[in-house]
Amino acid sequence: MAIYMGLKDRLLREFEENTGLAPQLTAEFEIALESVCSFLQGKKLRSREVRRRWLFARVNWKFRTNREPIAQLYAASAAVGVTFNYHQKAGIQAAFDLRDKKAFGKVLKNKGVAEAARVQLLGLFAPVSESETRRILRSEIRNPSKLRKQKGERHIDQEIILSCVAAFVFSSAEEQVLHEYFDCAYDAAEYEKSFWLQLRRMRPKLYTRSRTLDLVHVSSEGTGIQYDQTRQTYLALVRASYANLDNYGHLAVWIDPIACQGRDVTWELASDIMLFAEKHDLVRLERGYFRPGRIKMETLDGVTGLDVDAAQFELANEGFTYRDCYVCPSSTKARSNDASLLLVFQKNKRDEVVVPCPACRSYDVQGNSYPSLGVRSWECCNPLCPERSKYNRGKRYSFKALLTQEAIDDERNEIPVESVRSWMRDVQVGRNISEALKMLVSHYTLYGDVVHVFGVDGAASDVLGRRVVHHTVELRMSVKETFFEDNPWFHRYIVARSLDSKAEPGEASGEVGKIRVLQGNAFQILATFPPDSFDAAVTSPPYYNAREYAQWKNIYCYLRDMFGVARQVQRVLRPGSFYLYNIFDCFDNERSVVHSAMGDKRLVLSSYTVDLFRRAGFVLLGNVAWDKGDIEGRRGFNAGNFSPYYQSPFNCWEHVLVFWKPDNDVGAAVEKVGQLPSVLRAQPVTKMVRGENTYGHTAPFPEAIPQLLVSLLPADATVLDPFGGSATTGRALMSHARSVVCVEQNEEYCRLAVAKCSDPKARGLRGAIKEE
Ligand SMILES: C[S@@+](CC[C@H](N)C(=O)[O-])C[C@H]1O[C@@H](n2cnc3c(N)ncnc32)[C@H](O)[C@@H]1O
Repeated sequence: MAIYMGLKDRLLREFEENTGLAPQLTAEFEIALESVCSFLQGKKLRSREVRRRWLFARVNWKFRTNREPIAQLYAASAAVGVTFNYHQKAGIQAAFDLRDKKAFGKVLKNKGVAEAARVQLLGLFAPVSESETRRILRSEIRNPSKLRKQKGERHIDQEIILSCVAAFVFSSAEEQVLHEYFDCAYDAAEYEKSFWLQLRRMRPKLYTRSRTLDLVHVSSEGTGIQYDQTRQTYLALVRASYANLDNYGHLAVWIDPIACQGRDVTWELASDIMLFAEKHDLVRLERGYFRPGRIKMETLDGVTGLDVDAAQFELANEGFTYRDCYVCPSSTKARSNDASLLLVFQKNKRDEVVVPCPACRSYDVQGNSYPSLGVRSWECCNPLCPERSKYNRGKRYSFKALLTQEAIDDERNEIPVESVRSWMRDVQVGRNISEALKMLVSHYTLYGDVVHVFGVDGAASDVLGRRVVHHTVELRMSVKETFFEDNPWFHRYIVARSLDSKAEPGEASGEVGKIRVLQGNAFQILATFPPDSFDAAVTSPPYYNAREYAQWKNIYCYLRDMFGVARQVQRVLRPGSFYLYNIFDCFDNERSVVHSAMGDKRLVLSSYTVDLFRRAGFVLLGNVAWDKGDIEGRRGFNAGNFSPYYQSPFNCWEHVLVFWKPDNDVGAAVEKVGQLPSVLRAQPVTKMVRGENTYGHTAPFPEAIPQLLVSLLPADATVLDPFGGSATTGRALMSHARSVVCVEQNEEYCRLAVAKCSDPKARGLRGAIKEE
């Protein structure tokens, strides 16, 4: 006892001498410290000098003390044409924190920086001195961020000091020695310096990279005569892929333009795959973290008449997370049905298996939260972990985030700049599946991984250092996937409602020439029209919870309303009519599992729509991708990081789904739809001018969208827009139709619509339209 107590006191004294700070140990900290010192007794320790250097390096890192000198270095190097990638930056950071000029010189040399520039940059190696580090540390202790002054009974100044003591103690010997102590499963013969190699060796169930990417090729060869048969085949592959892929691996589906019984089914299949991929795995919600009871009550409020037993709210629909859909037309002039699609999903299967701390390798960790659906995050509880935050919180990490980090750490994973740049948008003209495979391999897998490709002939090969193995696709005739028929998901919003519930149009209704604006809820207003009243319809519905006029308690309530209106429109359309439906797979929380930010994700609104419309009696004949030409938000921003998992394209396009109410002439309908463009380039309407909405509506579409109907309209047609907004449809089609009816429930928007239709100048407010 006396001897190892000696080590503890020695380390504490040394810490005090180095930093000028006197730690007050908590009981928990003291026990942990005594125990590790007992273990370290007799082990080879680092020299006093090396211990000191490591202490300062870790404090520098915790407090980012070298931020400024490094920023100056980067500015100066950029001025002489030298820029650094992530790995080089990490090396520079470590060299500054350790005050190791040689290591800095090595980074420059390995990068091949010319002699003159190297000398100049070496002259800029000016990390903070130890006394500066001490000053910063003291100042942080005296004046920590205001909110953090006190934490319960304990003072944040002591928390800061303890976090530094932990870093110091961890630096007293080589990392392996400390790992031996903290890792309860340590085995010297099996030890790996790399956290990942160690996991792979010791925890193969937790971490394998045996299958990190599946690419399924849907081609006419793998397509049956019947749509159902084709769908069965690919849904079975998706299900198998979800079962067999490593967690956090990706599934990509490349869909060639395909037809069944003379009808193009590319988009219908894409949409069914998206919905199935996300929802096919039924999982019982047992943990208190999820709120099935609350979700059930909210749904019952909005969806009257649902069958509670069939809806089974205690079961959650889990599966892949939908990420992106690239549209790949064969050329800029491609007609609709001449575009391939590339869908990308990630497997995020909820997994409660404990992940050790990557810094100290301790299993003394606790579940923290779920940063996103299916992803568990952890917090290290080891008071001696070297990576406790500066305010002494345990290291927080998720397995998914660590994996992404691993991708960065190995230079062999670096993606060629050209690949990142050329795949930046989700509209890609003239691509083929081989190019897609190359992109997928470098953007979504790591060097040495195994990739499985289905439906592309070829022998096993190496692509960018990844093994690619091939499998054939066989049409599935016998095994029936009943997801679309009996999954509880659909029972939560597909309810039969009487279509007779009428309401007369409100006071804000109006008529301007051929345009009628009817104020009221589309479901009830349309009930006042007899069947077969319209020859065509076009609309942009509310996107679930995206705007002030589009708020529902959860996705089920939204879908129930959209289903109701789809059925009404189906009733009032004449057989043989087309219905164009503009929708975007926007980001939000479905609130079908949780309400917290963890539930935020890209929604498959287009897939829900295709399914609802099919149930309402429509047939999907195609889709025009409206390329807005600009980007949505900051997604796709990778901060110059060229590593796998950091690349998401900018989502530049929205759907214009082309539905048809069947009559007896599917051939004629298919031919007409075949004339539509595959991609419509049109700028969104300019609404905001210097922060003010000068247009008056928050989500108008450009006239180019309703104008897509022109070639599909019979002479003298009557057109409907059930979610009319500012009556863009009316203005865009008034010279092509006998009359246009716009239904809009919001009074103010109805007035705006009438005003715009009456004012010829208002037409100038539409977005400038650029078509290729
Ligand atoms: C995306 S906006 C349509 C914008 C329109 N295309 C334009 O260019 O101005 C959707 C509109 O649907 C309206 N709306 C939402 N639910 C409705 C319902 N049940 N019946 C009628 N209108 C509805 C909203 O008030 C909103 O104005």
